[in-house]
Amino acid sequence: MKNSPNIILIGFMGSGKTSTSKVLARLLERSCVSTDDKIVDWEGRTIAQIFEVRGEPYFRSLERRAVAELSDKSALVIDCGGGVVKDPANIADLKTNGILVHLKTSPEWILRRTKDVTKRPLLDVPDPLARIEKLLKERASMYAQAEITVDTDGKTPEQVAREIVSLLKNL
Ligand code: S3P
Repeated sequence: MKNSPNIILIGFMGSGKTSTSKVLARLLERSCVSTDDKIVDWEGRTIAQIFEVRGEPYFRSLERRAVAELSDKSALVIDCGGGVVKDPANIADLKTNGILVHLKTSPEWILRRTKDVTKRPLLDVPDPLARIEKLLKERASMYAQAEITVDTDGKTPEQVAREIVSLLKNL
């Protein structure tokens, strides 16, 4: 690992990765980047449009590229899309120079925080809670590969970010 490993936030949609990564970057005086933002910049379309027009496999290939690029850098806070963990190559890349932090959230809190499904095509279904529970079950072992896990239910991004800072000190 290089001198300043990246701090990488993983976790389900609605776990607060984007807001928390911004607070964390401020507290650690680092730059913050997001895999989803990179993809939106490349494509000039929203995530929902990419899913609709090009399909999920195409999105995943761009996500793979974004992760590979960012894993080569150091001293960043990286906000990963919730499905990054599905590809073992992504986890392997991210771990070469980074500390994985899992923001763990219950299905109920995820539902509360993802009401605007236009931003989350995978939750744009008649029963989003059932979809959340199914995907969480499929991904539980993948998120569990993080070095640090923080429960986010009922917490603000500021609280979660401060908790991460103190856990990082104990590593
Ligand atoms: C996805 C999560 C989203 C986005 C895409 C797919 C997923 O990112 O990458 O809609 O598979 O969990 P956020 O976790 O930032 O919402």
